[in-house]
Amino acid sequence: MVEILREDRLIHLRNDSASYIIYLLEGGIAAHLYFGKRVEGFNPASMLRHYDLREDGAFSLQGCTLDHTPQEYPSHGLGDLREGALSVVQKDGTRSVDLRVTGVEVVDGKRGIPGLPATYGDNAKTLLLHMKDALLGLEATLSYAMFDDVAGVMRSVQLRNASDSDLVIERAYSLCLELPDSRYDLITLSGAWSREREINRRPLMMGEQGVSSLKGATSLHSSNMLFLARPETTEAQGEAIGAALVYSGNFKASVHVDAHRTSRVFLGLNDVDFAWKLTPGATFNTPEAVVVYSDEGLDGMSRAFHRVCAEHIVRGKYAKAPRPILLNNWEATYFGFNEEKLLKIARTAADVGVELFVLDDGWFGHRDDDTSSLGDWYVDANKLPHGMKHLTDQVHAMGLKFGLWFEPEMVCPVSELYKKHPDWAIHIAGREPVQARQQLTLDLSREDVQDYVHQCVASHLREDGIDYVKWDMNRNFSNIGSALLPADQQKELPHRYMLGLYRVMEKLVNEFPDVLFESCSSGGGRFDLGMLHYMPQTWTSDNTDALCRCRIQYATSLVFPPFAMGSHVSAVPNHQTGRVTPIETRGAVAMSGCFGYELDLNTLSAEELDKVRAQVKRVKELRQTLLYGDFHRLLSPYEGNDTAWLTVSPDKLEAVFMFTRAQAQSYAYPALIRLRGLAADRVYTIVETGESYTGAELMNAGVSVRLPWGDAASVSWTLRAK
Ligand code: DGJ
Repeated sequence: MVEILREDRLIHLRNDSASYIIYLLEGGIAAHLYFGKRVEGFNPASMLRHYDLREDGAFSLQGCTLDHTPQEYPSHGLGDLREGALSVVQKDGTRSVDLRVTGVEVVDGKRGIPGLPATYGDNAKTLLLHMKDALLGLEATLSYAMFDDVAGVMRSVQLRNASDSDLVIERAYSLCLELPDSRYDLITLSGAWSREREINRRPLMMGEQGVSSLKGATSLHSSNMLFLARPETTEAQGEAIGAALVYSGNFKASVHVDAHRTSRVFLGLNDVDFAWKLTPGATFNTPEAVVVYSDEGLDGMSRAFHRVCAEHIVRGKYAKAPRPILLNNWEATYFGFNEEKLLKIARTAADVGVELFVLDDGWFGHRDDDTSSLGDWYVDANKLPHGMKHLTDQVHAMGLKFGLWFEPEMVCPVSELYKKHPDWAIHIAGREPVQARQQLTLDLSREDVQDYVHQCVASHLREDGIDYVKWDMNRNFSNIGSALLPADQQKELPHRYMLGLYRVMEKLVNEFPDVLFESCSSGGGRFDLGMLHYMPQTWTSDNTDALCRCRIQYATSLVFPPFAMGSHVSAVPNHQTGRVTPIETRGAVAMSGCFGYELDLNTLSAEELDKVRAQVKRVKELRQTLLYGDFHRLLSPYEGNDTAWLTVSPDKLEAVFMFTRAQAQSYAYPALIRLRGLAADRVYTIVETGESYTGAELMNAGVSVRLPWGDAASVSWTLRAK
């Protein structure tokens, strides 16, 4: 149950597991006093003393009282000399903001955010803190929604210009979270193409630290989230706080530790390449930030995030449904295919039990390599002389669904579209366009471009019998300029682009509720809660090497559940690393996500094909647990040679255990792994060994694992309870 209690100046949001406490100081400053494990009551005296808060506004040495006041939505410069969450320029060019609380409102449920992806659900209560800067005529509504099933708070801010002249927002973060100390490790996910989301863990230091993106997308290089764990926090134990943005564009996630070792966490739109002109009467909404708390280690934090993803972010027919086992032709053929080749691959896929055939890049315009045709979304008659519908009909006749690749946000300079509409690309007049992968980004801040993009995809979905879309995006912003925006609004382009993209996606998912959408951005370059709101799965990485995937999927699981991660078995030697790994290991790792194949099955031996058949059969039996069970990380590939994880069905009657060792060792040390999340008093049988143990034994004594011979060996066990 969610309660929002008011007692004197205290506002207490709580559910069964967490509490969030705001204190209204005299004069209407909203102070933040607590976020953590649920407490019954809260006496503010101790926290007020901790922060040395004096109602008389007394000055401390070289500072002002506000400078050490923990605030819900601080601004810099009027007594608080630290960085603030909000900066607004008024008519005279000054940018000080002084927000005071004018009203407190409690509403049932959770409201959406116009034009932006956001968490949803009825099992919530929302606190709205209305604030105003009387001089600026700026109104702010801070929104705090709490669901009864998540230990955390969903935060966002709405700004409104209630004055009669323009205001310019230069910074408006979604979240400020003040913590009374800095004894935390900061964990962020940063990487690059084919090694996305590496775990970086380091102690918080005085000063500013964090991650950000100015790439026009969440990016391959940094994820729009951060985690704070006590130094002693492990997977299974200890406190952790996580914050993740429901957004897919430029962002900033930072922690500022001040002179008194208190910590200020910010998460929101990056204020570089951002400004927003707010005309009289207009409103601006920040994206939403999800903040969760765990006192059960990083595992507990991830389970809270996974619940947010499963119950409050992902939508539509596939949100909880078995995801079709797919075969994607990309690594099988790259651009070199024709109808006959595709049908041959699809036939074998159908024969082993695959359910969806996906045609990747290269089917449109004259795209025989990556130098041309993005934007020209008509079928290449050289490759598919009978058209797309003819191909999809044949694939459907094999009992397979049909999926198609698009990269709709892009245009190649070598394309019909660019010839006709050069101004539809993001560009700066007079400057040579910087190309990446021989392509430019379409200016989705424009409605005409949004409509074109929508129409290109929608017409194929309407006419060609498409059941699945892989929505790719393979370059970042440069030459950031829009032909339509006036000079004083050019800085709005990155955010307007995202609003335009979300508009197109919202239209498509509503119009085609039966189509399964998978998001992709050179692999996992836009793996975020924003995209997940429209597309229930994301291609995790172009790197399909099983050992690399252990690292990538392990780290991705800090926020995202298995159902969000596309993961495929590919050919060996692997196309990204050259490594040869056993097909069993490739299967074991890939089945911890939306399972599929990324190779031509016709190239496998009869013995390998039998193994593929067995994998497909096993995934079909177990996928409800594999996709929607509770995922527990057991051994970290970041700490050693081994990776292990376990997925447990919600009723705890079924579990799937996966263990891999990267490098074989002679006379190897024994592996004894303690499982988590089982029912202690149930007896589990390991199907593959026939042994039975109680959940308590498996969780407290552990299970001993012997691996097959060779590098990248693995076991994948099914546990069944009586
Ligand atoms: C990048 C994606 O990550 C790949 O899976 C593939 O779709 C290529 N683009 C096609 O160009």
